[in-house]
Amino acid sequence: MPISLGIDIGTSAVKVAIIDEAGLLAEAQAPLTTSHPQSGYSEQHPQIWIEATIEALAILRTTAPTAFASIDCIGFSGQMHGLVSLDAHHKPLRPAILWNDARASIEANDLQRTHPDLAEVAGVHCMASFIAPKLQWLAKHEPDNVAATCHILFPKDFVRHWMTGEYVTDPVDAAGSWLFDQKKGCWSEALCQAIALDPDLLPQVKPSQDVAGYLKNNVASSLGLKNGIPVITGAGDAAAGCLGLGMVNAGDAFISLGTSSQIFVTTTAYKSHIPSLIHTFAHALPHHWFQMAAMLNGASALQWWSEICAVNISELLQEAATVSPTVDAPYFLPYLAGERTPHNNPSARAAFMGLDRSAGRGDLTRAVLEGVAFSLADGLAALEHAGGEIQELALTGGGAKSPLWAQLISTTLNKPISCLQDAAIGPVIGAARLAAAHFNTGYEFTKPAIKKVLCPAASEKELTANRLVHWRLLYSQAIST
Ligand code: XUL
Repeated sequence: MPISLGIDIGTSAVKVAIIDEAGLLAEAQAPLTTSHPQSGYSEQHPQIWIEATIEALAILRTTAPTAFASIDCIGFSGQMHGLVSLDAHHKPLRPAILWNDARASIEANDLQRTHPDLAEVAGVHCMASFIAPKLQWLAKHEPDNVAATCHILFPKDFVRHWMTGEYVTDPVDAAGSWLFDQKKGCWSEALCQAIALDPDLLPQVKPSQDVAGYLKNNVASSLGLKNGIPVITGAGDAAAGCLGLGMVNAGDAFISLGTSSQIFVTTTAYKSHIPSLIHTFAHALPHHWFQMAAMLNGASALQWWSEICAVNISELLQEAATVSPTVDAPYFLPYLAGERTPHNNPSARAAFMGLDRSAGRGDLTRAVLEGVAFSLADGLAALEHAGGEIQELALTGGGAKSPLWAQLISTTLNKPISCLQDAAIGPVIGAARLAAAHFNTGYEFTKPAIKKVLCPAASEKELTANRLVHWRLLYSQAIST
């Protein structure tokens, strides 16, 4: 098996990993910052992804020189829904508008209202995160940029274009655009027409395991990689994460608790359900799709709280572990970045509620963990409303490192949760595995070892269920109005 390099263009970092047939050989990362020029706006300049990729690869080259020198192929993963618009000279016209940017909410609502039948083609109710409403927002507010746009790409595709010169995307990133026909697996003429978009501006969609291009000599020599190695198309991060976990059989389900959070279920048929606000997207494997409850807040809520308290996360978690759950404990609504499933409300905002003078930092940390777990319960309810039958879920992402949070999620969802040996296996591993799979048609996306299966805590089930009912009322009373 070849030695593969995975590159994941995330939101908070670019992550890189080298794998062989036995597993992970080395990994590294370089941080990214996001700018929020107005409330609800979320942008990154595409150039920082290239700079962070160079930085992360330089670390890998120093820390694992032998593995690095042996890299035979590269696979990609990346944050989904980011709009990158390039001019005729392949230069970004403006910062990328990211997945958690809310500015296009009016355009999204208008598109959904005027073209209700197209949601069935696009796999999801139209929401502000997607490319189609973002392009309409740009047409209204930055018409010169739209007129100058010659190419539209997604974040990982921009970095791959720098490496190979090719304009290519994969079915999963294409799926997150509201321009893609999920069932047929190609750009949709009807969806492009709905926003008067010339489909020639969109990249070619290639299967996730196919070669998108070959590493250019100048890039290879500056990075210290072999000239001309194949660069594989890869997949948007939700599905790449799934491949990293080997969740490739129909019904396999997992929770990803990263910057955002998702509940993801692999299917072998296209099972859309528009009213529940779940997303039904093309998968990175041929003849597969996935259903996803996509929440915009996850471990990032705990990160935010740690920054507010100026206390590191592990200390906060230790404090929270000493707090016993009570009926009148404070509540937290986690909508720091609005919400997709099940509210489609980019303007929703976070809140602590029900505080009295006895509320301490530990109580509030526990409320943050519980608020994110409650939003996962909403996501699960949406998937079940769409007909999904989920028996148990694996847990991955940065948040999975906390046993306290994993237990709270199991009790809240009333489901067994499998905690994996390597809690934070991420999309970067899926990206590297897709590159490996290109060379081996029989490649098996195996599942990692399970460390422990957590079951709902019997003593806290009733209290948690009652608090969830109350928490849902708080959203409808305080946030939706
Ligand atoms: C998925 C989603 C996020 C981003 C960032 O729909 O919005 O997972 O891909 O990771």
